[in-house]
Amino acid sequence: MERKIIKVGDEGLRKVCKPMQKYDLRLWLLLRDMAETMYKADGVGLAAPQVGILRRVVVIDVGDGLIELVNPEIISAEGEQGGPEGCLSVPGKRGFVYRPEKVTVRARDRHGKSFELTGEGLLARCLCHEIDHLDGVLYTDKMDHEITEEEEEKEAEEQG
Ligand code: CO
Repeated sequence: MERKIIKVGDEGLRKVCKPMQKYDLRLWLLLRDMAETMYKADGVGLAAPQVGILRRVVVIDVGDGLIELVNPEIISAEGEQGGPEGCLSVPGKRGFVYRPEKVTVRARDRHGKSFELTGEGLLARCLCHEIDHLDGVLYTDKMDHEITEEEEEKEAEEQG
């Protein structure tokens, strides 16, 4: 079931989310709904607070398949990348944000089993962005500058 995506300005996006404690049907339904909502919105990631659930749950798909993260934590980060970033909760806008080039995350899967995941480039950016949501942080808090429509057009022209 697709859920409604909460937009910037809603207090719920600014709360620190609680860890998930039970790995049961309720979590699995949340994960299913979050994936459906992300895909329908053409997003590459979605965090539970974006659908009004203040729990530490994230889904990501940067094109290599669905990743489900429960209680994720960044355990190491290296390098730096700067690039454009958007958010389903901040429609129609993009910002230039610096993020680590590579991050390793420790999380639990839908059954509570602990695992580690290392991501580079877009996946690293996405991991940082979604985990920030769990602490009430939006990319707009961290962005170097907003990317205007004119800049986007100019960039597109330069790239041919
Ligand atoms: Co977001």
